[in-house]
Amino acid sequence: MATADDVDALSVECRERATAVPAPPAQAPGWAPDRVPDRAAQWPLRSYLELGALPTAVGCARLHARQLLGEWGLRELAETIELVVSELATNSVRASGALTVSQYGERRTPGVLPVRLWLSSDTTSVLVRIWDGSDAMPERKVADPAAESGRGLLLVEALSADWGAYVPDGWGGKIVWCLVTNPLVD
Ligand SMILES: Nc1ncnc2c1ncn2[C@@H]1O[C@H](COP(=O)(O)OP(=O)(O)OP(=O)(O)O)[C@@H](O)[C@H]1O
Ligand SMILES: [Mg+2]
Repeated sequence: MATADDVDALSVECRERATAVPAPPAQAPGWAPDRVPDRAAQWPLRSYLELGALPTAVGCARLHARQLLGEWGLRELAETIELVVSELATNSVRASGALTVSQYGERRTPGVLPVRLWLSSDTTSVLVRIWDGSDAMPERKVADPAAESGRGLLLVEALSADWGAYVPDGWGGKIVWCLVTNPLVD
């Protein structure tokens, strides 16, 4: 049977593992400074996944999100998170397509760019953040039933409580984020 010391040791290990998740970069000064939920930095549930910006990344990101939400006990949000992750990852992979050098802090890496996915939760809401190396910003299209594209961000907007994009401080590229809240929780 686990002793109180075992439980303490386990919770220290869990905290250390949580802090091992690299924090997403902060916004460069002047970029919508108070829109991203800053409190998410303190949220207890955090994950990070780095993938090559290849078409297969979308399915991997989606599957990762589904598994993770199950592990976090948030199955009721899994479908929504899968959808928004899928739309944002598709956009990021597409935007990275023509790029061959990425910058991560001081480091410049040649080759296929990564896309970086952070998911975090306070156990009721989930914040999705995706970095890609393109400096172009997402542009929400006007809803047009006849259009064959331009629906992804409209879907993200409809499914999330808030969304946005920012240029990270000291990085190339940008982060697109959205916050999904559980409608059953106040
Ligand atoms: N990560 C991104 N990097 C650069 N530009 C982006 C990014 N995400 C979106 N955009 C721009 O915003 C536009 C709207 O994105 P949205 O996802 O709504 O539509 P789409 O990707 O063009 O079409 P659909 O998602 O319906 O296949 C895109 O056409 C693109 O120009
Ligand atoms: Mg899209």
